[in-house]
Formats: sequence, C-alpha cells, structure tokens
Amino acid sequence: MWEETTTARVREAHRTRDVLIEHWKLLLGSASLRKAANDPDGACMTSFTRYTEEEVRRLNTLQAAYFSKNVEIFEPPLPEGVPERLERIVDSAGIDPSDSVLDIGTGTGILIPLIREYSPAHIYANDLSEAMLEFVRTHYPSVITAQGDAADLALADASIGVTFINACYPNIIDKHKTFTNLRRMLRPGGRLIISHPLGRSFVEILKKNVPFPLDDFPAAETEATELFAPYGFRVSLFLDEKERYLLRLAADE
Ligand SMILES: C[S@@+](CC[C@H](N)C(=O)[O-])C[C@H]1O[C@@H](n2cnc3c(N)ncnc32)[C@H](O)[C@@H]1O
Repeated sequence: MWEETTTARVREAHRTRDVLIEHWKLLLGSASLRKAANDPDGACMTSFTRYTEEEVRRLNTLQAAYFSKNVEIFEPPLPEGVPERLERIVDSAGIDPSDSVLDIGTGTGILIPLIREYSPAHIYANDLSEAMLEFVRTHYPSVITAQGDAADLALADASIGVTFINACYPNIIDKHKTFTNLRRMLRPGGRLIISHPLGRSFVEILKKNVPFPLDDFPAAETEATELFAPYGFRVSLFLDEKERYLLRLAADE
C-alpha cells in the first residue's frame, strides 16, 4: 500500500537513509567505532562549546535549509525497531494529563502520535525548519507550533511538564543558551528527555554526511551530571545501548 501511494522522491530519500543505517551497522562491527560507542573514558565534555551570535545564526540558517530540503527522510515507514524504541523513549517521561509537553526539533513530529497517547494538556512543537512545521501542522492540527531556535523560545516560565529532544541534541548549536531557556520553561520536577532511537554512535556517520557541526551525546552518566548540573538538572536515567540512547534529566525542585 505504501509502495503504491508514496512518491518516487520519498522512496529515494528512504533508500538513502537505509543505506546510511546499514553503513552504520557495519561500522559498529569495527573495533574503533565500538570503542567510540562504548568507551566512557573517551573524550569527555565538561562544558558546552560557545559560539558567537553570528556563528549560531549562520549555522542555524544552514541547518534550517538542509532540513527543509530533506523532510521526506523523516517520513514513515521508520527503520525496523525504531517505532518500539520511540514508544519506550516517550514512556520514560511519565507524562501526566496535567502536563504541557514540548517537542524540540520536532521534525515531521514522529513523537507526536506517541505523546498524544498520554492526553497531555497541550503539545508544543518547535523547529528551525518551516517546512518541517508545515508538515506537523498538516498532520496534527491541534499541536501548537513555534518556528525558530529552541534557545529563543518564549513560552512562560515553569509552564512545561515534559520536554523531548529526540535525534536533535547534536544539532543544537548554542547549548548554553538553549538549556538555560529550557530549564526556565520547565516546572520544578519537570523532565527533559534527550534521546536517539539509533544510539549515540549514529552521530559518527551523520557527521560525515551533513554540512554543519554535530556534537556527541554525553558518553557517561558522570559527564551528563557535570554538564547539566549548572543548568539546574539532575540525571534521573541514563541508558546507553547500541541502538538506543536515553538521558532523562529532572529539573531541580
Ligand atoms: C534529525 S531531525 C530530528 C527530528 C525529530 N525529532 C525526529 O526524531 O525525527 C533534527 C531537527 O532538529 C531541528 N533543529 C536543529 N537545531 C535546532 C534548534 N536549535 N532549535 C530548534 N530545532 C532545531 C532541525 O531543523 C531538524 O528538523
């Protein structure tokens, strides 16, 4: 059915994506990438890289254009195993019906149907790319969309119960400003979920294929604790599996 209805362009985008994933799986068999993926003693960040305002603007413009051109890559069907891993990621947030939920770097909104299962008060979706948000508005009209850098989102203080950053953490250029802002919008005790349904080593392959810098995910719980404590977060879950990365941060009470 999907083969009949989808366009040739979407099929081509999926072929490219699947080749990338196969390439990554082969590399995971190699000793050097296994070491990079599993070695918590590797390069460890203790604070975020700082860019000038002009650099942030330039890199975000580049990313917005790149993602607006590649919306199809993120359309279902998702790679094997990813839907189940996304369900676990969303479940880990413990969404309450009284929570407002914010999805940063929502892309085509692949988390949105899963978030809706928990009937939250509101769902906000943010992205740099207007084309991505157009897709979200078409498919999920009840979602409130906000285009721009997450660092500049202007929702009210303590108005959000759960924030997701799925497959987007490496892309955020101004992490200092972004995590300051996300903590401001999150209520005390709220959860911030940083995740990737293909595992943190997938970023090694992406780095070779995109025209902007990508950061690594924190490779160990101690690294995550050190990075996020200054922003008012503590680590409440750290899962670093071959095909799933899940870091849950709780906003200090
Ligand atoms: C790899 S896609 C992932 C999309 C979606 N979360 C998913 O899991 O399929 C990353 C998305 O993050 C967006 N993005 C990157 N940096 C951002 C930022 N600073 N603020 C908001 N969105 C950002 C990009 O435009 C892109 O749509």
